[in-house]
Amino acid sequence: MHLILLGAPGAGKGTQAKLLQKKYNIPQISTGEILRAEVKANSELGRVVKEIMEKGELVSDDIILKIIEHRIQQPDCQNGFILDGFPRTETQAEGLDMLLQKFPDIRLKAIEIALPEKDNIARLTGRRICSQCGKDYNLQLNPPPPDNRCTVCGGEIIQRDDDDVATVRHRLDVYHEQTQPLINYYGSRKKLYRVDGNQPVEAVFRDIEKILKNGVQLQK
Ligand code: AP5
Repeated sequence: MHLILLGAPGAGKGTQAKLLQKKYNIPQISTGEILRAEVKANSELGRVVKEIMEKGELVSDDIILKIIEHRIQQPDCQNGFILDGFPRTETQAEGLDMLLQKFPDIRLKAIEIALPEKDNIARLTGRRICSQCGKDYNLQLNPPPPDNRCTVCGGEIIQRDDDDVATVRHRLDVYHEQTQPLINYYGSRKKLYRVDGNQPVEAVFRDIEKILKNGVQLQK
């Protein structure tokens, strides 16, 4: 199973990737999570990308492709991977194609999770995360407990630096400009599928599973 989850910020890529990882035992590779861990660790890379991420801009293609090249060669990727938040530019998509040239048997599927823009904004501004373990909370879907401590690890629950409304709007602009063209990129290569993200989490997951089992049905 080699999957790309495409979609605007807040469409539900991370949520679905975690469910797929759990059910199919295939790793979620979230470039956003990898970069946030670097920022948290105050590594050299973290210091380079911190401000870019806080502004809602994209980190350079070179950095991202190096991260992916290293990550997909790890032993846990032998049976597949779920790419969440990558690729995000045409250069990244071409870079991925080059990396996968060595593996002609891989049948990549790109699944777009589609959501009306007003819902992306509501979801992201309502999102809260645990500062320790990253568990997702949401003011609408799954509100944090009154003491604002994570139910899993007891860590403080915070808002992501890039989830304020102005930065969310900018991230959506960046998405339309730089990432949305990938819909055509994968569509023209007959690798694109689409699910309606404007449904409960479980229903989105069921639609993704239908694509995995019987891609033809929901293919664009
Ligand atoms: P990244 O972490 O990838 O952020 P993103 O793409 O903006 O994605 P999000 O995590 O915000 O949204 P999501 O679609 O995963 O939604 P989620 O499931 O969390 O990237 C952050 C930054 O890192 C970028 O801005 C950039 O700077 C940098 N970066 C990362 N990758 C890069 C790359 N390849 N190239 C360059 N730069 C890169 O859900 C959102 C909320 O909605 C949650 O609270 C969730 O509970 C809720 N929710 C989910 N599904 C549903 C549902 N069905 N119904 C109701 N609520 C739902």
